[in-house]
Amino acid sequence: MRRARDLRPFRESPRLAEARGADRTELWTETAGTLPPVYGERWLERRGRTYRAFEPGRSKLSAGIVRGWSGDLPVPGDRWLYLGAASGTTASHVADLVGREGRVYAVERSLRPFARLAALAERWPGLLPILGDARDPRRYLTLVPQVDGVYADVAQPDQIEIVLANAALYLSAPERPVLIALKTPSMGRDLSAAGHARLAEARLAPVVDLEPSVKLEPFHRGHFLVGGRARGELFREVPGPAVSPPRARSRGRRRR
Ligand SMILES: C[S@@+](CC[C@H](N)C(=O)[O-])C[C@H]1O[C@@H](n2cnc3c(N)ncnc32)[C@H](O)[C@@H]1O
Repeated sequence: MRRARDLRPFRESPRLAEARGADRTELWTETAGTLPPVYGERWLERRGRTYRAFEPGRSKLSAGIVRGWSGDLPVPGDRWLYLGAASGTTASHVADLVGREGRVYAVERSLRPFARLAALAERWPGLLPILGDARDPRRYLTLVPQVDGVYADVAQPDQIEIVLANAALYLSAPERPVLIALKTPSMGRDLSAAGHARLAEARLAPVVDLEPSVKLEPFHRGHFLVGGRARGELFREVPGPAVSPPRARSRGRRRR
């Protein structure tokens, strides 16, 4: 582990830091877990806190932030539903951002990555692995409470519908964030990457107040970070699992 002198808080997220270099910005999350590294990322200490490099080449969320995502991010104490957690590369950083008081409900349907995710969760408090299919969100109703945000990286042709069905069922109230790592190569060859991104935005726009989408190149070819804040229409118009509107929370979500 090395020492660094140049870490600064990133935006309003107290557990996310940046180190600006001449030609690139590095992101670091204050870890909620313990060594060894999750995917070979660097660890460092500064003023009694331990940080892990949040590598944009490994994580689409990190790439989105580095490329200028202006929307909400997980903050300490939040509960997030994470769809398509794989073995936990990005989910571990989301768990870092929400800290020990927060929770990340990490859904993964494939056994092999899930086994690694489950092992990781043993040393990452707040990371709760769920073996499940995000196309069938009612199946984990007993495991997932109402959440403050939804992040999805399922790389499926119907990824937008998967996310909306989950958001309608689990988001605690309108104005909560919905973030999607959009993989356009999974969406067919009939449109360009930008065309697929526009189509996804058009589908989302009636139910999500969209932030400007961010192209994740050169880190992830054909990927975008898209999303924004859920509108009330999401809970009324998205067909599928929600039987009753989610209860509203008293606190309004602050603009970040
Ligand atoms: C691109 S990988 C996710 C990488 C991960 N988010 C990260 O950044 O560390 C996509 C994952 O979504 C999972 N997945 C695909 N469809 C799914 C579904 N319907 N329900 C749950 N997981 C799904 C796949 O098994 C795969 O592990």
